[in-house]
Amino acid sequence: MNLYICYNDEMKNYLEINKKYILIFLIVCLVVFTSGFARLTYKSFRYNKAYGHDKSNDETLNFPKGFLWGTATAAYQVEGGNVYSNWWDFEQEEGRIKNGDRTDIAANHYVMYKQDVDLMNQLNMNSYRFSIEWSRIEPKQGEFDAEEIEHYRDVLNTLSAKGIKPMVTLWHHSLPYWFEDLGGWERQENITYYEEYVSYVVKNLSSEVDLWITMNEPMAYISCGYISAKWPPGEQDIWKVNRLLKNVIQAHKRGYEIIHASDQEAEVGIAEHSSYAVPYHKNNVIENIAAYSIDYIWTHYLLEQITDELDFIGLHYYYRQYINVAAVKDLFGQSLDEFESGSMDRSYYPQGLFEVLMRFEDYNKPIYITELGVPDYHEIDRDQFIREHLREVYYAIQQGIDVRGFYYWTLLDCFEWSEGYDAEFGLIDVDRSTMERTIKDESWEYAQIANCNCVSNSSD
Ligand code: BGC
Repeated sequence: MNLYICYNDEMKNYLEINKKYILIFLIVCLVVFTSGFARLTYKSFRYNKAYGHDKSNDETLNFPKGFLWGTATAAYQVEGGNVYSNWWDFEQEEGRIKNGDRTDIAANHYVMYKQDVDLMNQLNMNSYRFSIEWSRIEPKQGEFDAEEIEHYRDVLNTLSAKGIKPMVTLWHHSLPYWFEDLGGWERQENITYYEEYVSYVVKNLSSEVDLWITMNEPMAYISCGYISAKWPPGEQDIWKVNRLLKNVIQAHKRGYEIIHASDQEAEVGIAEHSSYAVPYHKNNVIENIAAYSIDYIWTHYLLEQITDELDFIGLHYYYRQYINVAAVKDLFGQSLDEFESGSMDRSYYPQGLFEVLMRFEDYNKPIYITELGVPDYHEIDRDQFIREHLREVYYAIQQGIDVRGFYYWTLLDCFEWSEGYDAEFGLIDVDRSTMERTIKDESWEYAQIANCNCVSNSSD
């Protein structure tokens, strides 16, 4: 009715006189839209094109001298007793963690780290990636605990005595409760607390550490904490994402500068997840654009903002993720969990690691594979899983990608965030009632690989 009233003689006259300009305007809009869409389509097809590689006939595939062979852990998942973390209260809430699991003493690594370093040594590891728990170092805002620094110093000394090179992550998902209470990464003013924490740790430990990771998978933290609400603070507020992202990027940059101010020789990186998102139908435009965009938003957007403050990239790879528009119809009438576990193919796909590594070529930075792992209940044995992925790493190195190390996720069966203790990724089994450790049979091949600095190429 209103529209009808508006469309009066005056309006008619206006349209009549300006017909030409309106037409030109619409044509310009169409051209801009079409060329933007064409560019995006072209870019996404190019991006999704697989590189592929020839296979080698050599019996063994040798890795570069000095290659780092390691495993990775995160403090909150293995240490136990991290009562000042934002996860501690969160996990006490009904329904947050599968089976009602609690970290409690987790894998008791805080107490048993010496024994665990011995086990790493038995597995021929020459490096170990672990994280320092901010909520231990600074349980209350501004109160730093020197005893906790001594604990981590002792971990570093124990590693050093066995010739195991540390790679230290400063923030791996868990935050001090007080920091979250003050608004966490939502508030730009809070970056200064991270700076204080990093300065304190670096001042005390930088002489023992050459490889630093400022933060682990900030995108996973943002999406699980603020979109799916699976992790603390358990929010669903997509409008906060941009602000959070901006602040963690800023925090990374400050962390990088602080570490380098104290040690110019240190190598500082970030750990980022990259699934291999690929179109299910090779020629489907929408799937190509979606796969490209997912990878861009999830991984590359952040990395592109920090290339000047990055000595290496810590890359995580777990699976291939098919983008299938036909599956979207399943979203209706299913819960998100059902949809994720059913319709989305997150399959084991070693070649994807080669492709992902090639996608990182343009950064021209050294790469450490800081996580790659498989849980016990998977379709594939762990030894085969590791071997097949390492062959792909070898082929990427042959193509000139500077991969310098590989860290299997993870050393011990431990607390897998909202999945509780069900997902057992460890090289070592941990008896939950006695805390007794047993190296799993499937882990010994990785020990051999590390020992010879090579992987067998014979058919499996
Ligand atoms: C995280 C780990 C987690 C692993 C397995 C990684 O992305 O950094 O903390 O346990 O995935 O899900």
